[in-house]
Amino acid sequence: MSRSAHPAGPRHADVYPEGHYTAPATDLNELDAKVWSRTVTRDEDGALTVGGMEVARLAEEFGTPAYFLDESDFRARCRAWADAFGADADVFYAGKAFLSRAVVRWLQEEGLNLDVCSGGELATALDAGMPAERIAFHGNNKTVAEIERAVEAGVGRIVLDSFQEIARVAHIAQRAGTRQRVQIRVTVGVEAHTHEFIATAHEDQKFGIALADGQAAEAVRRALTLDGLELIGIHSHIGSQIFDMAGFEVSARRVVQLLAEIRDEHGVELPEIDLGGGLGIAYTSEDDPREPHEIAKALSDIVTRECESAGLRTPRISVEPGRAIVGPTAFTLYEVGTIKPLEGLRTYVSVDGGMSDNIRTALYDAEYSVALVSRSSEAEPMLVRVVGKHCESGDIVVKDAFLPADLAPGDLIAVPATGAYCRSMASNYNHALRPPVVAVRDGQARVIVRRETEEDLLRLDVG
Ligand code: LLP
Repeated sequence: MSRSAHPAGPRHADVYPEGHYTAPATDLNELDAKVWSRTVTRDEDGALTVGGMEVARLAEEFGTPAYFLDESDFRARCRAWADAFGADADVFYAGKAFLSRAVVRWLQEEGLNLDVCSGGELATALDAGMPAERIAFHGNNKTVAEIERAVEAGVGRIVLDSFQEIARVAHIAQRAGTRQRVQIRVTVGVEAHTHEFIATAHEDQKFGIALADGQAAEAVRRALTLDGLELIGIHSHIGSQIFDMAGFEVSARRVVQLLAEIRDEHGVELPEIDLGGGLGIAYTSEDDPREPHEIAKALSDIVTRECESAGLRTPRISVEPGRAIVGPTAFTLYEVGTIKPLEGLRTYVSVDGGMSDNIRTALYDAEYSVALVSRSSEAEPMLVRVVGKHCESGDIVVKDAFLPADLAPGDLIAVPATGAYCRSMASNYNHALRPPVVAVRDGQARVIVRRETEEDLLRLDVG
């Protein structure tokens, strides 16, 4: 794909020369099972249904834009992860991808644990009844109040992210008369991005404590001497939307090496390692994600092998998938407002949401798919850019896609795979009202996070 530079900046630089971006060979009415949640299908009239409910009915009842979450798919993915890792491992769902009280209940019912990374996520988890011992608390700068709350609630583990935090958590736990179970998050020098990883990346980032220069070993030394802490393991998270297992393998190997060093220095074999989240999902048909059982096998093979060669007992493994569980389970439904064909370039399709409900395209240049879902169409494909209604030219939802040329205002279009990091990163930019999340299952739909109202906005603005 060639791109030409544009004086107005990179956002404008990806203008495809005519004829360069070719229409897909596939039928635009086809729904690629890779990017849509499991119960999505088209009915005999060509309209999309999810959980047995037709989108036009959902739009009528809940309005647009809205996120529709396929509850049975979410639960099935939880079970697939739990089954793949089995009884000797723990799966912590990463709440930052999307968290609500209903989600917390589903996780409990499906036997998953929960990773939270803020006081707000912790409050949601506890309010919805997640047993504190099944919660892991993360973050590179947890406040004292957050640590106190976590210790007081009795969270199963706090993942320590800095030397200050080792001292802070130890002090707070000791004052509370308890010993807090902790892991130390290390940066293993692996930086992974979607299709590649860099094994020698320098530790130029805010998370964790570097393995390099004996930093992590020093952190372990300190944690082991503090009465308020029970060091249960080492944690590593290498990135997000990763397809290549090689990065995880290097990370696992380096974490096991550290366990061996700890055993040699302190005579202690730490019982757990956490290899974080970051497993990729399909946003478009080009993406080819791994299944949970392949991931589980790859990780457990490498850990077992490395431990055998270091003469260590195999530690209990935990993982923290967020996107891989919730990402594929939801789509965003929009109504088409305006359509502007730009001769020789593309057609701009404006919808009733935008960067306030999906910032990922603007922020990460993320790719998405889109489909006309209120009906099928036999019209020719037209190259579109789906944009929002915000006062910003970077307000792009789907950068390049094809929709039928007979698309008209009032049609409903849907962007799949928006379950992760869309509602959770939604904003009120331009005083947009954040869309609801509606769970759909077995012919029933129920709001699990309601749409924001103007009253909500005005309530915060105290005048
Ligand atoms: N564990 C830790 C310690 C993490 O920092 C993260 C994500 C996860 C687990 C879950 O990663 P997942 O499996 O969901 O990839 N906003 C970005 C993603 C940021 C991820 C931050 N940490 C995005 O929209 O792509």
